[in-house]
Amino acid sequence: MTTTPSPALLEIKDLHVTYASGAAAVRGVDLTVAAGTKLGIAGESGCGKSTLALALLRLLPASAKLTGEILLDGEDVLTMKWGRLRAVRWAGASIVFQGAMHSLNAVHRIGDQIAEPVVLHQHATPAAARRRAADLLEQVGLPAARASAYPHELSGGQRQRVMIAMALACDPRLIVADEPTTALDVMIQAQILRLIERLVADQGISLMMISHDLTVLADTCDRLAVMYAGRVVEEGPARAVYDTAAHPYGRALSAAFPRIGDPASRRAPRGLPGDPPDPSALPGGCTFHPRCPVALDSCAEDDPALREAGAGRRAACVLVGSVGAPGSGTAADPGPAAAARAASADPAAAADPRAAADPGAADPSAAADSTPDLDPA
Ligand SMILES: Nc1ncnc2c1ncn2[C@@H]1O[C@H](COP(=O)(O)OP(=O)(O)OP(=O)(O)O)[C@@H](O)[C@H]1O
Ligand code: SF4
Ligand SMILES: [Mg+2]
Repeated sequence: MTTTPSPALLEIKDLHVTYASGAAAVRGVDLTVAAGTKLGIAGESGCGKSTLALALLRLLPASAKLTGEILLDGEDVLTMKWGRLRAVRWAGASIVFQGAMHSLNAVHRIGDQIAEPVVLHQHATPAAARRRAADLLEQVGLPAARASAYPHELSGGQRQRVMIAMALACDPRLIVADEPTTALDVMIQAQILRLIERLVADQGISLMMISHDLTVLADTCDRLAVMYAGRVVEEGPARAVYDTAAHPYGRALSAAFPRIGDPASRRAPRGLPGDPPDPSALPGGCTFHPRCPVALDSCAEDDPALREAGAGRRAACVLVGSVGAPGSGTAADPGPAAAARAASADPAAAADPRAAADPGAADPSAAADSTPDLDPA
């Protein structure tokens, strides 16, 4: 682990994206990816992960409204001219989407598809671009001879390897991988993840990896951001966020995944009741409050900003680092609404709602890291 802070390759500042439908899919996201590092983005379906990825290279529908700044090497993607943007889409940052079959052109051989951006953006001759395509296929573990295949002649895992080869074609500084292994079987998923990890490490590429699977991100990434209803609600070192999430939502998301070596978690993996809110009709206050088992009555009114939650960590929860947080020595009064929620989430907590709001008091080890504890099951 390096102790010298790396320069930021990507800085996202106060990014908002609203679709023409009125869906506020991304709401004030601030994130940084340091050069050569890997950032994971996690969150339930519909929380805005793909919208964020598409915004990075202005791949959203023209009717979507974007505000904020997306600085790639200091240059704002949102104000770039089209010619510059086209170059940046290959050489600055490139995207690997889920569902490779839909992203590849069915009527062109894969070698030609990989070679095309090399000709267009690196001004290579056709022969040099073909050699580059063959080399890239070998880098992603496919024989160069497969260059003459059409997408339908390849397996799902092989097509995803081709997508990765295309993403690497113009030596990007950043790869954005949006659910790169969804729809692949578990063995192939592991192979593709290891391949991405090896390539970004060998070539010093930065990675933004999107997944609903926190375990994959904790294993692959340096830092992890958890999104809820279009916002980053927690961010920090990946393993720390996974193991000791500071935000009740991050905590619930993490608890939903069984731990290797912890048989109890396999017998009773814990999920979060309810659904994320509709981004066209978000609840007031903290958007997580209708599902939050430790919500205070004030959470229906107050929407906390991200605040420090330990070294290099941020979380957007009123219980983090404030009066009433576990370890602060003062319990916040959860109020009657929280008592009712706690009762429905955990019948044992009905007898003492304060235990649900501050269960860290019952668990000194949880109190030590100033993270609110909860059991959403
Ligand atoms: N083109 C679009 N027009 C209108 N609304 C959209 C569009 N694309 C996405 N949305 C809405 O924006 C919200 C965020 O969607 P997004 O695809 O970014 O979520 P996600 O976190 O990537 O979800 P998943 O894990 O299912 O891929 C959702 O409510 C979705 O319905
Ligand atoms: S305790 Fe309140 S601020 Fe914190 S996550 Fe729950 S509802 Fe949001
Ligand atoms: Mg998505």
